[in-house]
Amino acid sequence: MATERTLSIIKPDATRRNLTGKINAKFEDAGLRIVAQKRVQLTKAQAGEFYRVHAERPFYDELCEFMSSGPVVVQVLEGEGAIAKNREVMGATNPADADPGTIRAEFADSVGENSVHGSDAPETASDEISYFFAGRDIVG
Ligand code: CDP
Ligand code: MG
Repeated sequence: MATERTLSIIKPDATRRNLTGKINAKFEDAGLRIVAQKRVQLTKAQAGEFYRVHAERPFYDELCEFMSSGPVVVQVLEGEGAIAKNREVMGATNPADADPGTIRAEFADSVGENSVHGSDAPETASDEISYFFAGRDIVG
């Protein structure tokens, strides 16, 4: 399997509870390398742009409100099959369905406030990474 990069976001519910380091340890323990990282405060409009594929979903407004409710840590993770591996480490969207040991099983509060975002495919990973980072910001 090829080396890939994926976009990860540690969401406001997790930064509020000071869980950045514990979540980063899960990525590193799984063999993912954090090759870019910054802490930012999104506006609701920026959150809306990032999550525009969900614009028609009933949870969209609440999601944008939540994602702009506090700081997030955006990061690029790199590794063999990083996109799928990160989704495994994250666990299912709804923490009630997430496998034991996953980030969402251990830390997430609810289906909405579920601690992490991870890209779901190569095209979205590439788009999402370039939404937050220039090439020179990523050092593998
Ligand atoms: O984040 P993931 O790719 O696992 O799930 P998604 O289906 O792409 O949904 C994006 C985000 O919308 C989720 O991570 C949740 O924060 C939120 N969401 C929600 O609030 N209620 C749902 N029923 C589904 C998703
Ligand atoms: Mg998704």
